[in-house]
Amino acid sequence: MPADGNTTPVPKPPAPTRVLSGIQPTGRFHWGNYFGAIRQYIDLQTADEAYYFIADLHALTTVREPDRLRALVHDAAVDLVSLGLDPDHATLFVQSDVPEVTELTWLLMTVTPMGLLERCHAYKDKKTRGLPADAGLFTYPVLMSADILAYDATVVPVGEDQVQHIEVCRDLAGTFNHLYGEVFTLPKPRLVEGGGRVPGTDGQKMSKSYDNTLDVFEDLAAQKKKIMRITTDSRPMEEPKNPDDDHLYVLYSLMAPEADRAKMADLYRRGGFGYGEVKKALVEASAQFFAEARARRAALEADPDRIEAILTAGAERARAKARDVLDRARRACGLTRGLTRGLTRGKAGKPGISGQPAGKSSGKGGRA
Ligand code: TRP
Repeated sequence: MPADGNTTPVPKPPAPTRVLSGIQPTGRFHWGNYFGAIRQYIDLQTADEAYYFIADLHALTTVREPDRLRALVHDAAVDLVSLGLDPDHATLFVQSDVPEVTELTWLLMTVTPMGLLERCHAYKDKKTRGLPADAGLFTYPVLMSADILAYDATVVPVGEDQVQHIEVCRDLAGTFNHLYGEVFTLPKPRLVEGGGRVPGTDGQKMSKSYDNTLDVFEDLAAQKKKIMRITTDSRPMEEPKNPDDDHLYVLYSLMAPEADRAKMADLYRRGGFGYGEVKKALVEASAQFFAEARARRAALEADPDRIEAILTAGAERARAKARDVLDRARRACGLTRGLTRGLTRGKAGKPGISGQPAGKSSGKGGRA
């Protein structure tokens, strides 16, 4: 398929679905993270294209210890692959490996009204609480917009708290397109739900800030102890109960095979069972459910070069795409001198990937 841009317009093929999401490396994933978000991101990796990245630049607004940041990024990558993110399907990379995104952030910043950012909740919440906020936190949604627009993403799976940021992204992309022509693809948020329905060990929503989490890759013996200490309902054991009202059952139902789940629900409705039994069943079910992921994790930990190779390959693919989009944006707004294409921006010694064809999206900004 020639992409020389000099030919007469060809009818557009149906637009491919490009899924993208960023995951902050803020610590080990717990069951709430997994069932509420990560599992759903991974399910979407079969889209035409899928990009998932570890948002280390965003994490810099909260993590200020370099060694810890490095470890968090590494662990997040290992965890995601262990949980089923398949680097052959999806492009997995680290946000800061694609510097084009920060350049794009600047271009977007020039069309970002202050008022729009002042209304964004991360900054607003901090300010309301009288805490100092830096410009990184203030402009966080612009960086996030660049993350999305740099890959022509069409679908962005996110939790409820990030929907506002996708709206900002659409807003900025719309303004830029209005000023300079059709440069950016407007993404749509895809709300992933369920996180709120994963209860923690105390029955409240599972969350690091409530200190009630069960972590996906926690040591099994330690996790068993935590499970055996889960607060239970105070009603007498003999009384029949609605399983869906009990957080122990809700946790169990996330992991147990269908037949076991039905049996357990029956037991609740009949009454006369002990919570100790349910806890033991939960220990068993969760060990089973994550057994494959644990095995994959052990293998990855034993072979540190493997995760590096995955991230390097992911970064190269992601950069090739981001360069195209950045060039389109630069050209559109009159920055034609420093187009990345034709410049060697790859790692020293490598020719870089700047000579690659523009791909499916080349129709957008046109080529000189
Ligand atoms: N801000 C997101 C979060 O905290 C992470 C993120 C960064 C992101 N860039 C993104 C999510 C782009 C989706 C798309 O969860």
